[in-house]
Amino acid sequence: MTGSKTFYLTTPIYYVNDVPHIGHAYTTLACDVLARFMRLDGYDVKFLTGTDEHGQKVEKSAMNAGIAPQEFTDRVSKNFRDLVSLMNFSNDDFIRTTEPRHIASVQELWRRLESAGEIYLGSYAGWYSVRDEAFYGEDELTTSPSGKKIAPTGAECEWVEEPSYFFRLSAWQDRLLEFYEQNPDFIAPAGKRNEVMAFVKSGLKDLSVSRTTFKWGIPVPGNPDHIMYVWLDALANYITAVGFPDESGEYAKYWPANLHMVGKDILRFHAVYWPAFLMAAKLAPPKRVFAHGWWTIEGQKMSKSLGNVIAPETLVNTYGLDQTRYFLLREVPFGNDGDFSHKQMVQRINGNLANDYGNLVQRSLSMIGKNCGAAVPQPGAFTEADDALLGAARNLLPIVRAEIRSQSFHKALDAIWAVIGDGNRYVDEQAPWALKKTDPARMATVLYVLAETIRHLAILTQPIMPEASAKILDQLAQGPEARGFDRLGAGGALVAGTPLPTPQGVFPRYVDEAKS
Ligand code: ME8
Ligand code: MG
Repeated sequence: MTGSKTFYLTTPIYYVNDVPHIGHAYTTLACDVLARFMRLDGYDVKFLTGTDEHGQKVEKSAMNAGIAPQEFTDRVSKNFRDLVSLMNFSNDDFIRTTEPRHIASVQELWRRLESAGEIYLGSYAGWYSVRDEAFYGEDELTTSPSGKKIAPTGAECEWVEEPSYFFRLSAWQDRLLEFYEQNPDFIAPAGKRNEVMAFVKSGLKDLSVSRTTFKWGIPVPGNPDHIMYVWLDALANYITAVGFPDESGEYAKYWPANLHMVGKDILRFHAVYWPAFLMAAKLAPPKRVFAHGWWTIEGQKMSKSLGNVIAPETLVNTYGLDQTRYFLLREVPFGNDGDFSHKQMVQRINGNLANDYGNLVQRSLSMIGKNCGAAVPQPGAFTEADDALLGAARNLLPIVRAEIRSQSFHKALDAIWAVIGDGNRYVDEQAPWALKKTDPARMATVLYVLAETIRHLAILTQPIMPEASAKILDQLAQGPEARGFDRLGAGGALVAGTPLPTPQGVFPRYVDEAKS
């Protein structure tokens, strides 16, 4: 173990059969922002993402593609690795459930559950949805006009009857409730916590954890006719990646995970099954599960049949990478459902980025370039207005930290944009262009205050917009060593006389070509 502060966070591992879309990009983006923030704040971070490659759904997709499942998953898991570079994600590891390290880890988890008496052999007769890879009770289903059984998620179910191992989930009801009571932050947002607790209180049934009617998965140790339930397999990825079953090394350092970020569709698996599996195997449950909301497109559900699925690549090519990253986390209070619309995206780009942030940076730096010999100006004594703006910038870190650490990304951005607004009002009030003739020393002070404010803003926007923020910091001659949060505040202040490069615009306006 090292003495440093650690932070371990994970995304869901995505089913390889799907092509990555805005929803997948969103979850990993939120984690990326948090990971970058924690690193800049001095933490030793491990940020994990990856792909879920076993199960009946993936096997079916491979069959439809006419190739063997292994070859299929090798090919399509690349789509998710490509997403990482497209979106500039900073994950430290990318796990695939078909890797030997994972198979060894899951089989050991199984053995521990079995030797603790938590697994028994029986037989399952009930409904299963391949699309959700989930079992449903009769009472949860509705019947479609054509007589099909439909899950609450809209997925079709089929009748399954086969020998199966069961996990004694029913025995964990009280201990789970006690765990939620003792760890009020374990499930977020609060509304979701209430839903999960109500579900557990309503009674838990033992969970079928193996299948015998298909082959694509991890065999049960000692009884290879059984393939492990894909959710038991998938959830274990979070401990595999820190070296389980080796409990020294990374496991000792990073486990329990600080945060599993998931969409609301898979909260039950993470907040009910997963802590029960872990506690039953005498392992520590994670510290927190955050379930975020669902994206729709121009008011409609995203679906292949509607043809409205948005590829992250389309967004990045159309609007820019940092613009896309900004939009996704600013537009919707994190935890709520959100709607993507072109109009809203353009409003954010031209309003928040070009007019507010971009304009503050550009007019300040170009005045310094023209009027201060292309170097950090020499400030005189600060006025009340100067101190107010500098104070607001220097007070941002604790505010932003509290919001980011509770996954309120939109509120963190609101706080930063409040100071951007203060900065723009300050420029208008101080009118440094007029001071140029009347009081050049005062002009230098005003421009210094602006440059120092921008330095704070750019350091703090790095997690959300890494490239644009780096460009701004380049223009302030702040090298990579000067970009950590330890440099915020007066201690890291700009040094008068430091030469500055020629300023360049960072946030272009978006011009709709169709309308010209
Ligand atoms: O469920 N809006 O994988 P999956 C927001 N393999 N987020 C969305 C979204 C949307 N419209 N669509 C997808 C699985 N997501 C399992 C997970 S973890 C041990 C195993 C995101 O490929 C969201 O994070 O179906 C959701 O939870 C996840 O993709 C589901 O990905
Ligand atoms: Mg899904």
